[in-house]
Amino acid sequence: MKLNQSNMKKAKKYLDKNQCIGIPTETVYGLAANAYSSAAVKKIFNLKKRPKSNPLIVHYSKLSNLKKDCIINNNFNKLYKKFCPGPITFILKLKKKNKISRFVTNKKKTLAVRFPKHRMVKNLLNSLDYPIAAPSANISTGLSSVNAKDVKDEFGKKISYVLDGGRSNIGLESTIISLSNSPKILRLGGLEVSKIEKVLKKKIIININPSKKIAPGQSNLHYSPGIPVRLKINIPKKDEAYLLIKKRKKYSAHYYYLTKNKNLKEAAKNLYSCLRKIKNKGYKSIAVEKIPNVGIGKSINDRLNRASKL
Ligand code: TXA
Ligand code: MG
Repeated sequence: MKLNQSNMKKAKKYLDKNQCIGIPTETVYGLAANAYSSAAVKKIFNLKKRPKSNPLIVHYSKLSNLKKDCIINNNFNKLYKKFCPGPITFILKLKKKNKISRFVTNKKKTLAVRFPKHRMVKNLLNSLDYPIAAPSANISTGLSSVNAKDVKDEFGKKISYVLDGGRSNIGLESTIISLSNSPKILRLGGLEVSKIEKVLKKKIIININPSKKIAPGQSNLHYSPGIPVRLKINIPKKDEAYLLIKKRKKYSAHYYYLTKNKNLKEAAKNLYSCLRKIKNKGYKSIAVEKIPNVGIGKSINDRLNRASKL
């Protein structure tokens, strides 16, 4: 995707005026606003119908700017060096004196931070005097957006602008790791946990379904297309959409392929757009064939499990 300077200027203009806009990232699209402005951040919560208690991720392009707001540590340094910019979010302790709006964190003492890789959003961040708070660009509990049109479908005229950066390359949200104490994975996502473990040279606790929810991505119903999703299905019901990962001999109009040859990266990239398509066609339910629980397949299964809790 070519960088379009006038679109970038437009995006900056709206953000400078404390408005919310849609932004592309390599994971999913974000609903962005100035993280230092409470007026701007409040708009995100209203637009998304998001509970005020659910904190936002703040996006930076420069480490020096992050250091003004957060306390970093050794584990962070190792992971930052290897994976940033990229699909990983860190939970860090906030500095006593920081400029982040208290509405971002719901007065928590920690902050979720991420360095997105998408060229357009990196450039945009470099042109701003503040980092941007950006949750996934969807109404709370629904399907995330993976292109500019999805964002427009979610929010319509309620947002002033969507910066179009093409289709999100990864298609699943970032992996969240808490580093404020000993490392803990809070959300599976675009970066495989095994790769993180290799860098930190140890097994990391995975705490994605805690009894006390600390990240609503951990809540039972999430990422939902709004119709029942049935998992590990061999034979779908008549008239049910059937989500598949390997090519069938027979043709059926109800077959929707995430990939035709079990390529799980490709499946991840297509997941939300396929679910959105099925929902928009008016199906009453979705059957999903078994997806191998390996590599990025674990993140796909995590999303589908939560989507099936309707
Ligand atoms: O890939 C992504 O991470 C995308 C793109 C736009 O960057 N963003 C995204 O944001 O997925 P959101 O708001 O949909 O999910 C952020 C998750 C939420 O589950 C939230 O509860 C958790 O991060 N979170 C934020 N701050 C936290 C904190 N201080 N401690 C624990 N969890 C936190
Ligand atoms: Mg989300």
